[in-house]
Amino acid sequence: MIKRIGVLTSGGDSSGMNAAIRGVVRGAIYNGLKVFGIYQGFEGLIKGDVRELSSRDVGGIINHGGTILFTARSKLFLTKEGRKKAFENYRKHNLDALIVIGGNGSLRGLREFMDETGIIGIGLPGTIDNDLFGTDYTIGFDTAINVAVEAIDKIRDTATSHERLFLVEVMGRKAGFIAIFSALAGGAEDILIPETTTDIKKLCDKLEQGKLKGKKSSIVVVAEGETVGNVVTIAKEIKKNTDWDVRVSILGHMQRGGIPTAMERINASRLGVAAVEALLDGKKGVMVGIVNDIISFTSLTDAVTKVKPLNSHYLKVAEILASV
Ligand code: F6P
Repeated sequence: MIKRIGVLTSGGDSSGMNAAIRGVVRGAIYNGLKVFGIYQGFEGLIKGDVRELSSRDVGGIINHGGTILFTARSKLFLTKEGRKKAFENYRKHNLDALIVIGGNGSLRGLREFMDETGIIGIGLPGTIDNDLFGTDYTIGFDTAINVAVEAIDKIRDTATSHERLFLVEVMGRKAGFIAIFSALAGGAEDILIPETTTDIKKLCDKLEQGKLKGKKSSIVVVAEGETVGNVVTIAKEIKKNTDWDVRVSILGHMQRGGIPTAMERINASRLGVAAVEALLDGKKGVMVGIVNDIISFTSLTDAVTKVKPLNSHYLKVAEILASV
């Protein structure tokens, strides 16, 4: 019987995590459960920073970025000793289940913790990267791409005034989802992502042709994890091989913050409530996601080991729109 659940946010924060926490807390209380916030992710479980949350504790947070529970990339939790301490505190607070909101590393951590201790765990996809298998949506992605597009729009103004080419680096160490979506929405000339091979010569030819066609500015979006080189070395190559006046802009951590978009709040709230319902239905060891706008369940193992495929239609459309 599940009566007391713990909830934590872990890894890189993302806008919408608060809406998900609110969904978990109120979904749990609605169903007659007690819910405990674990502060600073797995680190907080190791330290024993566990506090009961009421409905009022999560009031007025749906519209705020970041996470009221704080977060961490816990090094200690990667050790057996750390996980042992975490389990002791889990037992001390008589928790019956744990909901972890985080990205790949955090859900891997949960999987391992469950395997070692036999606890009941459920994962929610919380990362701006949108790179978890088994869900169309991850908490934070929609806000992150909107932040990136707003920045690209501003860069476009100055790029056009000076007839310059800008390389804009967006986050995504291993995945190009933020790059693809923000490039498409920002009208970029090209998108460089770790999932595809970049040919610098072809890129330079394309940019040069754009100039000949009369393009007054050019934006190339580069994912942080692009393998051909970093954004600065790519810019140097382009400078050498084209007539463009090139500038670089690295958006960085601003993409992790900001007021969550309406869709973010809606989807994160749905996921929070669905995580509680999944526990009450007897589910465990799954990540709750959204596929085709319907709540879906994927084993934690698949969620963190399988590669989420890119939708090649997005790349194709971006290519067509930039080519003429
Ligand atoms: O996983 C989310 C993410 O924002 C990645 O896109 C980025 O590579 C990484 O976190 C940055 O991590 P940190 O905030 O620890 O520097």
